Amino acid sequence: MKSKDQCIIISGGSKGLGLALVLSCLERGFRVATFARKQTNEIKEVVNRYRDLLYFTELDGTDEPGLEKFIDRASNFGGGSIYALINNAAIGQDHLLTHLSSETIKRILMTNVHAPIVLTKMVIRKMILAGQGGRIINVSSICGSRGFSGLTVYSATKGAIDAFTRSLAREVGARGILVNSVAPGFFSSEMSASLGDDQLQTIERRTPTGKLTDISQVIPTINFLLLENTNITGQVLAVDGGMST
Ligand SMILES: NC(=O)c1ccc[n+]([C@@H]2O[C@H](COP(=O)([O-])OP(=O)(O)OC[C@H]3O[C@@H](n4cnc5c(N)ncnc54)[C@H](OP(=O)(O)O)[C@@H]3O)[C@@H](O)[C@H]2O)c1
Repeated sequence: MKSKDQCIIISGGSKGLGLALVLSCLERGFRVATFARKQTNEIKEVVNRYRDLLYFTELDGTDEPGLEKFIDRASNFGGGSIYALINNAAIGQDHLLTHLSSETIKRILMTNVHAPIVLTKMVIRKMILAGQGGRIINVSSICGSRGFSGLTVYSATKGAIDAFTRSLAREVGARGILVNSVAPGFFSSEMSASLGDDQLQTIERRTPTGKLTDISQVIPTINFLLLENTNITGQVLAVDGGMST
């Protein structure tokens, strides 16, 4: 059973989809803990508006000791328990594989796969101890199941996250913890800003609905998996106008 005193953790809540998720949870009265490497003016303004309900800190998700401290703060902030984790933070990729340095490949893998898996492990431990079940939602991408030139490593990370979702769902289902991926199509944000007009038009042309995805269409899907009484677990739900069908 969820209670609004429990905390919802959202990684990467300073901008883009993460910021919209933070606002959506706060507007519903939940306590939210979020982090990003840099504070933005937008999240600063939200912190001022929801001082008692929101905990934000600057933190790199690949910093494991930092994550441990964050989880303890978040859990205390939520009256000792965590209702849900949304693994949203990720970085994109700007170049073809042949132009990527090993350092860059490693950074994408660490940020998009290693960090959310470690964070999930920490949160799941707390959820199991609290014995109240919970929700894990991994923000994936249609790149996890479909090919896109120039997004090789990024796609590999999203495929890995979907595989993680399926196996973790089996591990923790009996504990009342539901684990799902939401895989949006391309939406406008800092991450997708490097896509040129030609690429965006090609994506639109290949999308059955003829439209790119909007953040406002991703939020209700995540809220459904996050808040409703469902028996859905281990699934990857695409929100992409049918692009990946
Ligand atoms: N935009 C798209 O077209 C699209 C499509 C499908 C799926 N997605 C997925 O949707 C999610 C959100 O993407 P978005 O487009 O909203 O991206 P965004 O605007 O670039 O926001 C990413 C968020 O993650 C944070 N972040 C990145 N690296 C981090 C790190 N190492 N430690 C802590 N925080 C970190 C960023 O803050 P800092 O940079 O300050 O750390 C920011 O808050 C991602 O998982 C992405 O893969 C995006």
